Amino acid sequence: YREKILAGQHWVITAGPTREAIDPVRYISNHSSGKMGYAIARAAVNVGARVTLISGPANLAPPQGCQTIQVNSALEMHQQAMALAPEADIFVACAAVADYRLADVATQKIKKTADEMVLNLVKNPDIVADVSALTERPFTVGFAAETQDVEQYARGKLSRKKLDLIAANDVSRAGQGFNSENNALTVFSADSATEIPLADKQQVAGQLVTIINQAYQAKSSPT
Ligand code: C5P
Repeated sequence: YREKILAGQHWVITAGPTREAIDPVRYISNHSSGKMGYAIARAAVNVGARVTLISGPANLAPPQGCQTIQVNSALEMHQQAMALAPEADIFVACAAVADYRLADVATQKIKKTADEMVLNLVKNPDIVADVSALTERPFTVGFAAETQDVEQYARGKLSRKKLDLIAANDVSRAGQGFNSENNALTVFSADSATEIPLADKQQVAGQLVTIINQAYQAKSSPT
């Protein structure tokens, strides 16, 4: 039995990678497994939240008790997030969104004729930054996967994207982060840093949900 401390809250969570089509049979993507985002969705459901999970292509079963919306590209994820976020209390951007997409997607399979080939890419919208810029704005939480100077880069993203919290992990450390079963996070706000020590992602997600809820409650009813 666990107390339903999030009863009445609607969480919208993005998870997994995105796929940016090159032609009908090829795409650009990344190694995100979606495990962390799915674990956060389960953890929030477990303590009573209504959860909508916007997921890029991940080889994971949709978590029980939440609505899962499957998307492929960053533009599709952006569209779903912008539609759902105004109704959300808390938005957690855990997805590894592709920074760039093809300027032009070929309508037919590209043939292997040229010896060299250049793909023109254009920048994707920053989903979490666009959500936090909404006038009807949920409490907004981002992630920062870094290989060096974790605190400096995470705090930069916190202020640049106008986030309430950012959960940072050092993906250069063995056995945590991308595609791993385990993770360790440091959660930064403008004036605090909270460590979540290395543990399996479901355990880390449970602690993260508690930290997010505490910060959300503190912001909603400042003392
Ligand atoms: O700038 P960077 O990609 O490192 O920021 C990571 C954070 O921003 C994550 O929370 C990620 O989900 C979010 N993000 C996003 N849309 C993008 C790029 C990143 O929501 N296009």
